[in-house]
Amino acid sequence: MNHRITRISAFLLAAVLMCGCGRGKLAADAENFSDENVSQADEYITVGFSQLGAESDWRSANTESMLSAFTEEEGYSLIYKNGQQKQANQITAIRTFIQQEVDYIVLAPATEDGWESVLEEAREAQIPVILVDRRVNTSDKNLYSCWVGSDFELEGRKMAAWIRAYSEQKGLLPEDLHIVNIQGSIGSTAQIGRSRGLANAARDNGWDLCAEISGDFTETKGREVMAALLKRFDNINIVYCENDNMAIGAIDALESAGKKVGPDIRNGDIMVVSFDGVNETALEYCRSGKISCIAECNPLHGPRVRALIEMIDHGQTPDKFNYVDEKMFSCVPGIDQVTIGDKTYRIDSDF
Ligand code: AHR
Repeated sequence: MNHRITRISAFLLAAVLMCGCGRGKLAADAENFSDENVSQADEYITVGFSQLGAESDWRSANTESMLSAFTEEEGYSLIYKNGQQKQANQITAIRTFIQQEVDYIVLAPATEDGWESVLEEAREAQIPVILVDRRVNTSDKNLYSCWVGSDFELEGRKMAAWIRAYSEQKGLLPEDLHIVNIQGSIGSTAQIGRSRGLANAARDNGWDLCAEISGDFTETKGREVMAALLKRFDNINIVYCENDNMAIGAIDALESAGKKVGPDIRNGDIMVVSFDGVNETALEYCRSGKISCIAECNPLHGPRVRALIEMIDHGQTPDKFNYVDEKMFSCVPGIDQVTIGDKTYRIDSDF
């Protein structure tokens, strides 16, 4: 690969420059720079990773997984860039990776739209792009090699099926469910899928979906949005939060307003459900009933992305879309599973 040859030359040059001055010494050191050193340099695969931000505990776990998968011991040299939730920063990062002639680009895109030009530039530079977590919306799917992540709409559908099972178990009428959706960052795959899963179920079941407002996947915004929603509506009994960090913020706002958070809607509780299952506080809330149900979103993509890169590096073509299996967590008794299509998903109460 061109880039690797360039890297070996840079490695040799650096070794020569670091060796000191005298002509004899340079020559001796150049001789000592054996084939073994060259093959070591050649073995490193350079990966530029554009992470979208650090907005949630899920994201921190995801970054950690990537950093520990792409180590020198594993044969990688990783260049990591945090996009601070701004697509413009991610586009700049990708352009920098192209200039640096990395072997692979891994992109965790903030939102789906607006990637065509920069992915075209990567293709022209013959650098394969692997998408992780969220997706991009491009008419040409060959602008990236493959994707690995969650089926976000399925997560939303599973949660809606759980809400339906709960309401049937309690004998609640569909029109008695007054739901607000605190959405993730608008235009991100996670938001689009989870919002769609709920909106379709609300339409099909006749639930009252009072409002959908973004809390940008952060605890602070989850708190702000929940406080504002309580001023607008006095009948909310289900809060669907598109991640755990927003759920923690929303619960804080609900309790500060004197509301009781829990699964007993019939007796005045406000039920909170959410996504991820990474943050320990959220899992503890789920054990105690403050969060009634969590649909898992698995962040441990580092080894998965590495396996995809290894396939490509060995001349193989991985599947285009690679979905991760995910669980559901709840301690509310009586609902052991939900069914979507012909697949049944068990609800885990021992976590
Ligand atoms: O794209 C995955 C989502 O992004 C996670 O659910 C959320 O916590 C994160 O910010």
